[in-house]
Formats: sequence, structure tokens, C-alpha cells
Amino acid sequence: MFRVGIITASDKGSKGEREDLSGKVIFDILEKKGYTVERYIILPDDEDELSREMSNMSDELKLDLVLTTGGTGFSKRDVTPEATIKVCDRMAPGISEAIRYYSLSITPRAMLSRAVSGIRRDTLIINLPGSPKAVREALEYIIDSVHHGLEILTGKTGECAR
Ligand code: MTE
Repeated sequence: MFRVGIITASDKGSKGEREDLSGKVIFDILEKKGYTVERYIILPDDEDELSREMSNMSDELKLDLVLTTGGTGFSKRDVTPEATIKVCDRMAPGISEAIRYYSLSITPRAMLSRAVSGIRRDTLIINLPGSPKAVREALEYIIDSVHHGLEILTGKTGECAR
């Protein structure tokens, strides 16, 4: 089964001033789907720290999937998409388009998420929004298709036919 890392981008969460409910939502959904969560970390909204951890999860830990939550909005401290773009070799815009497409049917504010998705080496990196509600909505919508993408990325299948 695929090995996953979770990064929560939150200034308050990293200082222990706010409980990280969003990271836990990701954890629960993935465990139920049979994924193995190998690393889970809360970092401040700092571009260098975020991109360094994404590289670590890809290059050193060789995780198949990295999911981030938070830091995708318009606040000056929101830099998760920039950190992601910096470390990716190839972008996978369809995943973030799908999240926004689905989320817009729930709230027009979904247009305010600047989240991106991309591939670094053999690792798929996906930004999710920050709230536990948004995380659940987005992840449950994409997870089965993402699973197929991971099978192709890791060479477990070359077939798209069902
Ligand atoms: N997507 C879904 N599915 N559900 C939501 O409630 N909230 C939006 C958006 N995406 C939302 C959503 C809001 S209000 C914002 S500001 C952006 O995500 C960015 O959130 P972030 O800065 O916490 O990442």
C-alpha cells in the first residue's frame, strides 16, 4: 500500500496554540483507505521550511504521496502553493482543478484556495485547504482517482482501462 506524509501549515498549530484537526481528518481518511501514514508534521507558514520538508519526504523518505493542509488562501502568510511549486518537477493541475470544481458546488469561497498539485521524482504532492471541513470534502472527492494516479506514477500499473 502507498506510504504517505502529512504536512500541516499553520503558525498557530506549530506553536501549540491551536489543535490540528485538519491533519487528523487526513490521517483518518487515509488510514481507512489502507494507506500508511509514515510522517506527520506541523510547520509554521514559512516557504523554506515547507519546501524543505516536502523535499525530505520525497528524496529521503521516498513517500508516494504528500498531502498538505492550510496556507493556500490570500493571507500574506499563506505560502504553501509557492513552497510546492518550488520543489515539483512536473505540475498536476487537474487534481487542484477537480478540488475547486467540486468545492465550488459547496461554497463559492472555494475560488479563494490557491492550492496546487505536482510531482517531485516519484512523489505526488497535493495541497488541501486549511479547515477540517474543506479537507474532508476535498480529499474524499479525489482519493480514488489519486490512488489510480499513484499506481501509474509508481509503475504498479500502466493501464487506464477499467
Ligand atoms: N473548499 C471546500 N471544499 N470547502 C470549504 O469550506 N473553504 C474555502 C476554500 N476552499 C472551503 C474550500 C475558503 S473560505 C478559503 S479562504 C480557502 O479554501 C483557503 O483556505 P486556507 O487558506 O485555509 O488553505
